[in-house]
Amino acid sequence: MAKLNVNGRVREFEAEPDTPLLWVLREQLQLTGTKYGCGIAQCGACTVHIDGVPVRSCVRPVSTLSGKEKIVTIEGLSKNGSHPVQKAWARLDVPQCGFCQSGMIMAVAALLKAKPNPSDDDVSSAITNICRCGTYNRVKAAIKVVAQGGNTKSAHLAIQHVDGSTT
Ligand code: FES
Ligand code: FES
Repeated sequence: MAKLNVNGRVREFEAEPDTPLLWVLREQLQLTGTKYGCGIAQCGACTVHIDGVPVRSCVRPVSTLSGKEKIVTIEGLSKNGSHPVQKAWARLDVPQCGFCQSGMIMAVAALLKAKPNPSDDDVSSAITNICRCGTYNRVKAAIKVVAQGGNTKSAHLAIQHVDGSTT
């Protein structure tokens, strides 16, 4: 049995060395919040944190992990959806179908931890996740809301700025 540290717990699994981390998370550890989109590191749906760094788990063989790394999935980002990024996502109604959103949130959470007030260029270069529903404007607005402390006024202004809505 090999071991991984996932969401603060040591978890055991059995898999071939070249098995992508994504499939161990989803199929053996039942952490299905992390999604499969493309399988070739393009879409970001499978993004998790490894020692705080956003990683596309569909192309990360489990044999490259020692078991000591701290892996965090969307299920471990917070208790009860209370992470500031999750709160901003809910406040601004970012998701549409939702499929890409756990990966998007994990990528954004890592960015904001590294750069609490990122520039537009920082966001563009760090958040390359693909959303087929086109939630990009609200993703950017939610990032600004978190960077500005998550207050309600900034949420309203951000929404009005991206799509003219009075949500
Ligand atoms: S499923 Fe991993 S990047 Fe698309
Ligand atoms: S919310 Fe549907 S793919 Fe992004």
